[in-house]
Amino acid sequence: MRILLVGCSGFVGRALVPQLLAAGHQLVLISRSSAPLAAVQSPQLQRLQADPAQAATWQLPAVQEALATSEAVINLAGEPIAEKRWSDAHRALLTSSRIHTTRALVAAMQALPEGQRPQTLISGSAIGYYGTSETGRFSETSPAGSDFLAGLCQAWEKEAEAASSFARVVILRIGIVLGADGGALGKMLPVFRTGFGGPIGNGQQWMSWITRHDLCRLIGEALSKTAYQGTYNAVAPAPCSMVNFAAALGQALGRPSLLPVPAPILQLLLGDGAKVVLEGQQVLPERLQQQGFVFEDAELSAALARATT
Ligand SMILES: NC(=O)c1ccc[n+]([C@@H]2O[C@H](COP(=O)([O-])OP(=O)(O)OC[C@H]3O[C@@H](n4cnc5c(N)ncnc54)[C@H](OP(=O)(O)O)[C@@H]3O)[C@@H](O)[C@H]2O)c1
Repeated sequence: MRILLVGCSGFVGRALVPQLLAAGHQLVLISRSSAPLAAVQSPQLQRLQADPAQAATWQLPAVQEALATSEAVINLAGEPIAEKRWSDAHRALLTSSRIHTTRALVAAMQALPEGQRPQTLISGSAIGYYGTSETGRFSETSPAGSDFLAGLCQAWEKEAEAASSFARVVILRIGIVLGADGGALGKMLPVFRTGFGGPIGNGQQWMSWITRHDLCRLIGEALSKTAYQGTYNAVAPAPCSMVNFAAALGQALGRPSLLPVPAPILQLLLGDGAKVVLEGQQVLPERLQQQGFVFEDAELSAALARATT
């Protein structure tokens, strides 16, 4: 397949791109950077520099040509959620980097003549769609939450859904992605390796996770199997509490994991962004299980064994 990739130069893309190349796909990677994923060398990988959040990107002849010759599009673009304090300006960037990018991408797909449009769009969202709760259990049919992230995810999904009049749209509500070199685990690992790790906040918040390995496998399957359509919770079937996650991580590393990280420290560093780690939600992959997706990392201990090496 020839696939156009947006927002695939980051933590997930670093693993996804080599996997798609190994499967024999031809890739066009659109990035704001001039040499995204510089370590990945392949004649099957073409790089185009442009700012995907800018509407003008999608009118560049090279981008239009790439879009018109692609069978599928994968869109994971978005300013990182939990890296900075959420000032008004940062909230606007979190929003525009997802909403405007997806809107402009879908408009560019739609503007192509019918026979030239990519037939598949796989687009990101997050389990933040459901809001946070210590007691609720969320499947794909659960209602959206009412906080900032829930609103952002709803608006993000709406933009991608606009492509469903002409393409097969798969929206992935992604959970906490586990990989050693990024995301939440990438931040926790150095501390846990010293033996000074422990649960963050009160420890009762839910962690609904998926290994990066399984997320990339899922994207590969959703590309090739047309039975995938609509919205899926991209989480493993074994969500756990933060306190259990910290204990399992300590065990995987052979280190103590008893020192809690108090919430105020994180709030000082991240402001509202700390919410992503201090509050969680229990999310289940109901539709993936109905679809028969087989998780290779279904249990936390196996997931951490893979994700910490
Ligand atoms: N990692 C997780 O635990 C997790 C959980 C839930 C949802 N997600 C979502 O899944 C997607 C991929 O996650 P990830 O961890 O791989 O994210 P990431 O490493 O932060 O990469 C996201 C990509 O978005 C693009 N991007 C960043 N800031 C941007 C901006 N201001 N405007 C336009 N594009 C921008 C970057 O592409 P270029 O620099 O190449 O332009 C980057 O490759 C994201 O949308 C994220 O919100 C991730």
